[in-house]
Amino acid sequence: MKIISVETSPFHEMPYRSSGRGETRYNNLPFFIAKTDFLPDGVDAIVALADLQGRENDATTNRLMGVAVADELKTLEELGLIPRVSMILSAGDLYDRPELNKLGATGDVTDVLNAFASNFPIVVAVNGNHDIVDAKGLVENITILDGASTTIEHLSIGGVCGITGKEPRHQRKSPENFRKALIAAMAKSPLVTMMHQTPKGELDTQIGDESTSEFLASSRKTLVIAGHCHWQDLLCSIGDCQVLNVDSRVVVITK
Ligand SMILES: [Fe+2]
Repeated sequence: MKIISVETSPFHEMPYRSSGRGETRYNNLPFFIAKTDFLPDGVDAIVALADLQGRENDATTNRLMGVAVADELKTLEELGLIPRVSMILSAGDLYDRPELNKLGATGDVTDVLNAFASNFPIVVAVNGNHDIVDAKGLVENITILDGASTTIEHLSIGGVCGITGKEPRHQRKSPENFRKALIAAMAKSPLVTMMHQTPKGELDTQIGDESTSEFLASSRKTLVIAGHCHWQDLLCSIGDCQVLNVDSRVVVITK
C-alpha cells in the first residue's frame, strides 16, 4: 500500500484550543486528502490521525478534541464531502487537560477512542507517550497494537505504542525493546505499520528517531503511519518503506 499523493492544502479545518506556554492557544486542525494505490475491496476511505492534544472550541462542553474530530468526520461523511470511512488509524497523543494549562500533559484518552469507534466501524490504535487508556472501558471495535499485528477488512496492520526512552517512564521503551516490538509488529510484513514514534525522515526538517529510520531502511515494504514530531512535509521514503506523518492533522486516505 503506497501513498501516491497528498494534497498540499487542507480541504477542511477545525478550530480547537490547546495548552500553550502560559496561555491558551487557538489553532486550526487541518484535514488532508491522500491518494493511495490500494485499499481492500469494499473500503472507500481510511482516516489516519495523531497528536490531537487539545479541547474543542466550545469551553462549556470542553470535550477532548478527538471526540469533536470524530463528530466532525461523521458530518463530513454525511455531507458527502469525504467517502464512507471504514477505519480510523489513531497514532496516539490524544490528551490535553480540561484547564489547558500544561503542554504535553498525560491523561485518559479512552473517551476519544470510544468516540471514533461509535462513529466508525473499526478503530486501530497505538498509544502515545501521553496517553492513558482504560482497556476495560474500551468498546469492542477497537484494537490497540503494541509489538503485534492484525488483519482487519483484509488490511494487515502492525503497531508499536509509545516512544524510545527511559523505562519505566510512561509509554517509554528502551531502544532495544522498541526494536524488538517493531520486529514483532512487522514480522508478518503488514501493509501498514503504525507507531507513535517518528522515524527521522529524508529532509532535515523531518525530525525524528535515527535508530527507527535505520531499522526501516532495511525492512520489508510497509506504509508507516507515525505521529509525535511535527513535519511540514508529511511524507517521505526510507528504503522500501514510506512514512506518513499525521502529527496534528487528519489525513483521509482514499483511492
Ligand atoms: Fe508524543
